Amino acid sequence: MRGDGRRRYEAEYRVPRAPGLSVMDVLDYIYENLDPTLAYFSHEACRQTACGRCLVRVNGTVCLACGCPAEGERLTLEPWNANVVRDLLCRFPPAE
Ligand code: FES
Repeated sequence: MRGDGRRRYEAEYRVPRAPGLSVMDVLDYIYENLDPTLAYFSHEACRQTACGRCLVRVNGTVCLACGCPAEGERLTLEPWNANVVRDLLCRFPPAE
C-alpha cells in the first residue's frame, strides 16, 4: 500500500525469493532495486526486533518487519495503523 493519509493506492513488486528472508529484507530489496521512493521504517543499528519501530501489517497481521519471515506466495504489506505519514511509515506512537 502506497500513498499518504489522503490518497492510498496499491503497488505490486516482484521480489526474488530466498530462504530466511525477512519482510525488512523484502522492503530493502524493493527500495534498493525497484522503487527508491518507497517509505518505510529502517533502523540500521537495530534490525533485531529490539527497538519495536518497524511495525507493518503483513497479510493482515501486525508484526516487526525485521523479525517477520517473508513467507508465502504473496505478501500484502500495509501500514500498521491509520496515522500514515507516507506509504508504510506511520506516526509512532499513533496519534489519539
Ligand atoms: S528495526 Fe528495530 S525492531 Fe525492527
